Amino acid sequence: MADDPLYERFGSEFPAGHELFREGDSGKEMYVIQSGKVRISKQVRDVETTLVTLGPGEFFGEMSILNNEPRSASATVDAPAKLLVIDPRTFEAMVRGNAEIAVRMIKKLAARLQEADSQIENLLLRDHNSRVVHILTHLANKQGRPCDEGIAVDVAVKDLASKIGIEVEPVNEVLNKLIRAKLIKINETGVVIQDVAKLREFLEFLEMKEKFGDI
Ligand code: CMP
Repeated sequence: MADDPLYERFGSEFPAGHELFREGDSGKEMYVIQSGKVRISKQVRDVETTLVTLGPGEFFGEMSILNNEPRSASATVDAPAKLLVIDPRTFEAMVRGNAEIAVRMIKKLAARLQEADSQIENLLLRDHNSRVVHILTHLANKQGRPCDEGIAVDVAVKDLASKIGIEVEPVNEVLNKLIRAKLIKINETGVVIQDVAKLREFLEFLEMKEKFGDI
């Protein structure tokens, strides 16, 4: 990376825990992750919700410099990171000079919008059971990997809770119910969904219950 001319010109290293910017700050740069992880989060009242955790090859902080609005979320280094820190003029020159960069960016923005739609859907569900089951089926679909016992989703309970803006304790209560119903198992790397179709059916059942009440 030391002989990467882009890194030489724009690169900086940041330790874990470093706050790059906070929601509401004025935005001066956009960032491209070369290595490490960055967490994008929003604080609503006293609950901090993780919108996404980004890794190598991904970018963030482009919105403020595209629309001249304050930062829409906060960015914190989650694992020691090497970042390209790009000023607005360089950013514009890069996009204008390279259609491939523009196309990749549009694709990423479309994927982000789709993810945000799923988060809205989750927030519209009123009870904790439905919201935990919804995020589990969503993650199984997006990042699940088949294993002997079903579909494994590598996610820590605290990250699951942070994604849907619910405290860890009530999330654990729901997970325990799902374990007792033999719908999921917890292992060292996260959650194993034994039968995704059944979990989806369970979500439909919860949605019906919310619509019609206990009849
Ligand atoms: P900006 O508004 O400049 O600062 C916060 C950044 O977080 C924003 O640019 C995007 O790059 C990123 N961001 C905001 N909302 C989301 C989201 N829902 N998913 C992924 N990234 C986001």
